[in-house]
Amino acid sequence: MSILYGRRIRLRAVEREDVANFHEWVNDPEVTRGLAMYLPMSMADEENWFHSLASRDQKVRPLAIEIHKGKGWKLIGNCGAFDLNSVNRSAELGIMIGDKSEWNKGYGAETMTLLLRHCFETLNLNRVSLRVYTENIRAVRSYEKAGFVLEGRLREAVYKFGKHGDVLIMSVLRSEWDTQTKEK
Ligand SMILES: CC(C)(COP(=O)(O)OP(=O)(O)OC[C@H]1O[C@@H](n2cnc3c(N)ncnc32)[C@H](O)[C@@H]1OP(=O)(O)O)[C@@H](O)C(=O)NCCC(=O)NCCS
Repeated sequence: MSILYGRRIRLRAVEREDVANFHEWVNDPEVTRGLAMYLPMSMADEENWFHSLASRDQKVRPLAIEIHKGKGWKLIGNCGAFDLNSVNRSAELGIMIGDKSEWNKGYGAETMTLLLRHCFETLNLNRVSLRVYTENIRAVRSYEKAGFVLEGRLREAVYKFGKHGDVLIMSVLRSEWDTQTKEK
């Protein structure tokens, strides 16, 4: 797989040099608020995670998100598909923009749109879904902009910050992607 290029972003393979940034971001409570991780992560944890990527199917390895800055590229987070099912032709997506100075600039929506294109037009999937905490309003709004549709609610499925909260399931079907792209 080669680098995926969007209008302002690109998605490339994760490199060892990215690990220090990821380590900082997965320990930032504001970033992990919307993520499944909740315990402190050591540099060794992060390096082990990086080494474990080599044994994963290439289609489900995370991708580094970079934005165009001046004449070069700046790393702002990572994203990717996982739980890929080749019979159902489905997968789930995840995203973390760890650089908080780049939130609310549309990079999340652009990343998810690029991943959707990759899932439908390269991996030939039929259904792409994600899970998001109901309180993560920024994420929900960003996913809606990328074309994700709310399809269900897992009631009190997560325990965070001393209380149970709902988890939303959002998805895009290939038929919806085809309609969306034809309209553009
Ligand atoms: C969630 C995340 C991917 C979104 O990416 P982003 O680039 O910040 O989001 P976007 O700019 O694409 O869209 C954000 C939208 O939410 C809106 N928004 C932000 N905070 C809001 C709030 N409190 N109430 C209502 N809308 C809000 C923004 O105005 C924007 O909508 P608009 O373009 O219509 O104005 C990113 O912030 C992130 O990675 N956060 C940390 C990790 C995380 O939560 N990951 C998701 C796990 S499911």
